[in-house]
Amino acid sequence: MPLNQQHRFRSLALTAMAAAALSVAGFVESTPAHAKAPQAQPQVLTASAVAVADKYAADTAAQIFKQGGNAVDAAVAIAFSLAVTYPEAGNIGGGGFMTLYVDHRPYFLDYRERAPMSATRNMYLDDKGEVIKGMSLYGHRAVGVPGTVDGMWEAQKRFGKLKWKQVLAPAIKYAADGFVVDDQLIERRDRASKEFAGKTNFDLYFGSMKSGQVFKQPDLADTLQRIADKGSKGFYEGKTAELIATSMTGHGLITARDLKEYKAVWRQPVVASWNGYRVITAPPPSSGGIGLVQLLKMKADLKDKFEGVPLDSAQYIHLVAEIEKRVFADRAQYLGDPDFYKVPVAQLTDDDYILKRAQEVNPEAPSDTKSVQPGLGTSMPEKAETTHFSVVDKWGNAVSNTYTINGYFGSGVVAEGTGVVLNDEMDDFSAKPGVANMFGVVGSDANAIAPRKRPLSSMTPTILTKDDKVAMVIGTPGGSRIFTSIFQVLSNVYDFKMPLADAVGATRFHHQLLPPNTIYQEPYHQLDAEVVKELEAKGYTFSMQGFNGDIQAIRIDDTTPEPMSDPRGRGVSQVIP
Ligand code: GLY
Repeated sequence: MPLNQQHRFRSLALTAMAAAALSVAGFVESTPAHAKAPQAQPQVLTASAVAVADKYAADTAAQIFKQGGNAVDAAVAIAFSLAVTYPEAGNIGGGGFMTLYVDHRPYFLDYRERAPMSATRNMYLDDKGEVIKGMSLYGHRAVGVPGTVDGMWEAQKRFGKLKWKQVLAPAIKYAADGFVVDDQLIERRDRASKEFAGKTNFDLYFGSMKSGQVFKQPDLADTLQRIADKGSKGFYEGKTAELIATSMTGHGLITARDLKEYKAVWRQPVVASWNGYRVITAPPPSSGGIGLVQLLKMKADLKDKFEGVPLDSAQYIHLVAEIEKRVFADRAQYLGDPDFYKVPVAQLTDDDYILKRAQEVNPEAPSDTKSVQPGLGTSMPEKAETTHFSVVDKWGNAVSNTYTINGYFGSGVVAEGTGVVLNDEMDDFSAKPGVANMFGVVGSDANAIAPRKRPLSSMTPTILTKDDKVAMVIGTPGGSRIFTSIFQVLSNVYDFKMPLADAVGATRFHHQLLPPNTIYQEPYHQLDAEVVKELEAKGYTFSMQGFNGDIQAIRIDDTTPEPMSDPRGRGVSQVIP
């Protein structure tokens, strides 16, 4: 199929250059004073719309829009609701990223967790210097200082129209009165329960949850009420903070001071021009925005090689894997928290650099992995179970939000008396940097553990605009599969001209440099058996993965929003007049 819409990226937008310059210089933007909420704007879309991870969050959004709230109010209310009704990944005990487009301007909010102040580089190594299995995944020592509540507070204070209490109200009701439990939640609970058995207090809190029955969370309702009453301080100070710090005593590192000093950070998003669109996406400490831009740009650079190559044919999968190999090599080497490490954003997203990388792609056979591999990071498996939601309002504002507690139900620890499920985000650091890997290559320190540092993430909440109007809001969970999944959906929509539902439902595959020449398939849609054979003959190995994302996307066709939830999850998309 001709890809006549593909163009090579031109130069980065000026804003991206400015963002990159800031990151390269290692500056941190201080949180700006809270601007006034947008005033009466003209209605530019036929309706508001959401694509969210469950039906309760969709109902929450409908209530918020009915009360006159905007996309930011709805997003914040959704985030708190999912913390109750989607406890495997929705959270107030984790962190995330929010990409916003408000009054025709792009913004990015980083509310990623931070390492506690007493965290150390080798905290997960034994006295022989080996990684202690599971220590960064389960229990109190796996927990990073949560950022979600401060993130929501910052976003809503800066851009929301409603009162803070109004956006908390739906979540408090679901926690106090309960919600009906879905089969998928029970499956995930059962798996988590086995994983955490004997290690955490998980079963005490979630053991009684039954499919089809109402589940109430009174401790969580009280915690949410304190947040409703006192704002961010209702979590980071006072009773909630005391309960979290007490639950850590003798087990974990987070103190009352860690909580009190947590701050979400407004950063410049990565912004790039592609295919007639402006791509607004996540900067470091996410690797996802840079990864997504590199994938889109390299594919466009290889227009001649992709010309006439059918979607999901052996040649298509080979070319995409070749691109992914190079993107993941850069990810391992260069990416980490920009407050600690000078991430070369401008160089990594520079047109000439990406063209050079694209020219290294071997169209005939897999490139030798060792010759592409620069670092260690990708050899660490990354948890895939995050959650994403997309929102647009009828005034043309948009929010793309991905947040996480890392694995399903995070560390498996519920802070006693709070109902808050705590993350295991410390696992997203490199537990053992600077050591030669299986290829004899020494990895980078960019993502080593340090006090107050944020671990590298793949979360990629993304917004596309055209002529200063929102054209697409998209994101997904999936760990390192996040940006390869978004890339495939965008490619399906804009290069292959597929309807959004087909683009989201289509087969997805994934390669990430390591293990060498391994392509991951998904159970939802497997690749054609003949295609697999052809690629095996080229030297690829195939591996099945249990999960390949839960895309929540909204496409805006001129003035009409079309939301779409991935058929792989229990998400709900809704147009709200
Ligand atoms: N914990 C998954 C991510 O941050 O990408």
